[in-house]
Amino acid sequence: MPAGIRTSELRKVYNTAPPLAAGSGGAFSFAAKRGKGKQPKPEVVALNGMSLEVRSGEIFCLLGPNGAGKSTTVGILTTRVRPTSGQAWIGDHDVWKEQTAVKRLIGVVAQRPNLDFSLTAREILIFHGAYFGLSSQERSSRSASLLERFKLTDRADQLVRGFSGGMMQRLSIARAMMHDPQVLFLDEPSSGLDPQTRLLLWEIIREYNQSGKTVLLTTHNMEEADALCQRLAIVDHGKIIALGTPQELKSSVPGGYLLRLRFGQQSTELLQRMQALAGVREVRATENNGMDVYADRGGPLIGEIANLALAASVELCDVHISEPSLENLFLHHTGRSLRE
Ligand SMILES: Nc1ncnc2c1ncn2[C@@H]1O[C@H](COP(=O)(O)OP(=O)(O)OP(=O)(O)O)[C@@H](O)[C@H]1O
Ligand SMILES: [Mg+2]
Repeated sequence: MPAGIRTSELRKVYNTAPPLAAGSGGAFSFAAKRGKGKQPKPEVVALNGMSLEVRSGEIFCLLGPNGAGKSTTVGILTTRVRPTSGQAWIGDHDVWKEQTAVKRLIGVVAQRPNLDFSLTAREILIFHGAYFGLSSQERSSRSASLLERFKLTDRADQLVRGFSGGMMQRLSIARAMMHDPQVLFLDEPSSGLDPQTRLLLWEIIREYNQSGKTVLLTTHNMEEADALCQRLAIVDHGKIIALGTPQELKSSVPGGYLLRLRFGQQSTELLQRMQALAGVREVRATENNGMDVYADRGGPLIGEIANLALAASVELCDVHISEPSLENLFLHHTGRSLRE
């Protein structure tokens, strides 16, 4: 039976410092639990009211910068992380209360590889199939076809220890598909894959989805989200800041085009004149004498802007034009770049 995914007001507060980030500030708050003689406990708010609905049979993408809360969301939905509050369901099953039922429905590829290095690729798939109760014949035929699909047949009987990062990643995805789960979670599945293998992975994910399966994947990569998913959510600081189809989200940016300009000095008069140009929807002053211009055309505006700058005796130092993209959408919502 196909199954969707739902979360309601998920919050996750970690009370332990992440190993490399201890003492580095960021999202930490030392306000709580300052008992007598005790060290203050750092708190990281990883999720801050995450409500999400992924339809059954949909490819859905969580897109967001490092530390946005994507893996924490996946961790909660796959029973690995206990939410501080809020609820999550796979199909009709409450994830935290019905963990066994949920585990039967899902396949998971974690962000960090967790393969047993002392096994061969084939053994990894076969053992996984056995764990999920597949018959011996199913195990061998399914493992053979997955090894073939992920181009690992010639490595099938070698120990995983000697695999490259990309091969391990492919094997992890094949393992997650081995028991043919209704819902597949892929946490940054294409990281470490070469461009050709990335395309192969997209093809495999689409094929899997066409058999009616639900896929939730996380990525930093806008092209991937755009190419692969039917809907996506942009996540930042543990919350969804935008949700829709790639097309809807791209067209929700005023004008679509973004011109990032830098001048010799900031000028309110120049900003107002640019605002009045035909096709310009919004102009925002940014740091270092910058201005972001949201407009419904790109290149053709540059000459007009250069003339305005000349007339105002302000030097135009740098111009960057980007076409309608999810990157622009993120910038528009947060004032930051996804790549920063
Ligand atoms: N086990 C943990 N203990 C303490 N803090 C954690 C733990 N796991 C995650 N965090 C913190 O929670 C926040 C969200 O992390 P998360 O891994 O969910 O982000 P992400 O969106 O997956 O980022 P990335 O794109 O880098 O994978 C970060 O500030 C992170 O440091
Ligand atoms: Mg992550």
